[in-house]
Amino acid sequence: MEKELESLSINFDKEYEGCSGLKELEALRIKYIGKKGYLSSFYEKFGKLPKDERPKIGQILNKVKNKIETQLSEKVETLSGGASSEIVDFTMPGFRIPAGKYHLITQTIDRVKDIFRGLNFDIVEGPEIETDYYNFEALNFPKHHPARDMQDTFHVDSNHVLRTHTSPVQIRTMEKIKPPLNIISIGKCYRNDPLDASHLPVFQQVEGLMVDSDINFGDLKGVLKIFFSEFFQKETNIRLNPSFFPFTEPSAEVSVTCPICTNGCPLCKKSGWIEIFGAGMVDPNVFKNVNYDAEKWTGFAFGGGIERLALIKHSINDIRFLYENDIRFLNQF
Ligand code: DAH
Repeated sequence: MEKELESLSINFDKEYEGCSGLKELEALRIKYIGKKGYLSSFYEKFGKLPKDERPKIGQILNKVKNKIETQLSEKVETLSGGASSEIVDFTMPGFRIPAGKYHLITQTIDRVKDIFRGLNFDIVEGPEIETDYYNFEALNFPKHHPARDMQDTFHVDSNHVLRTHTSPVQIRTMEKIKPPLNIISIGKCYRNDPLDASHLPVFQQVEGLMVDSDINFGDLKGVLKIFFSEFFQKETNIRLNPSFFPFTEPSAEVSVTCPICTNGCPLCKKSGWIEIFGAGMVDPNVFKNVNYDAEKWTGFAFGGGIERLALIKHSINDIRFLYENDIRFLNQF
């Protein structure tokens, strides 16, 4: 039996050498160590051996079985491309990690801040959860005034709202500092508007305020003209149409000449003008609310959407693109 096991092992080696595929290897395994394989017949014979021969033959049997198993699993690993067969080509080019960039809204906010800093405006901030007083009352929206309706307010409790505009920052600033002052404030605002191509329930506004001893409508027009020309990077004219805001008197809708066309396009609805900001001269009632002498100080204010600025500048026709965060869209800017 010892001799027979030896020749079995030699035969296995020969067949093993010639094996070059996983299927052949499996066939070899079944043939030698499978349930009905060669080795199992040796185990049967082993059971019938006299007791004194068993330890020696048993050892040889196990040795042959282990050897066959080890060789088979080594070759399986090699043929199936296991870790030991991995080839590393150190001359291959590496992976390029793409550089990040700022989101279009951040780029727009930064640009607006840069332009106003250049015009000597300071940048101030206010809270997004506002009291009824700052969001409405101090801005000359009396309780139950219909102008409140237009603001589609989210109420937090009976005295707090999610601010519907950045105008409350005007009040907070004037309470803290005395004129002359030039400030802008940029931040999130909230309105219960259904989501569509031009409305978002959460959006951003820029607010501006200038107060000094003899500020007039011409100053407002001059500052806005410079701002829009810088922002659109082309000579831009502005138009002021009469309007109404409780905190300015007189009030105006500000339109700019269409930055894309000269003779009518879908963006300006073929009119050549695009409505963009609200603005006006600070109402004396607002000055009273912050204890400014309305006989001594005059000022202008303006406000408008950051998203709208970005949409117009880049001819984007749906505001939702800005917040879907599709990299293919954002990478264009
Ligand atoms: N707060 C106004 C709004 O969201 C926009 C606005 C209009 C701001 C006129 C102003 C202003 O500062 O003077 O509808």
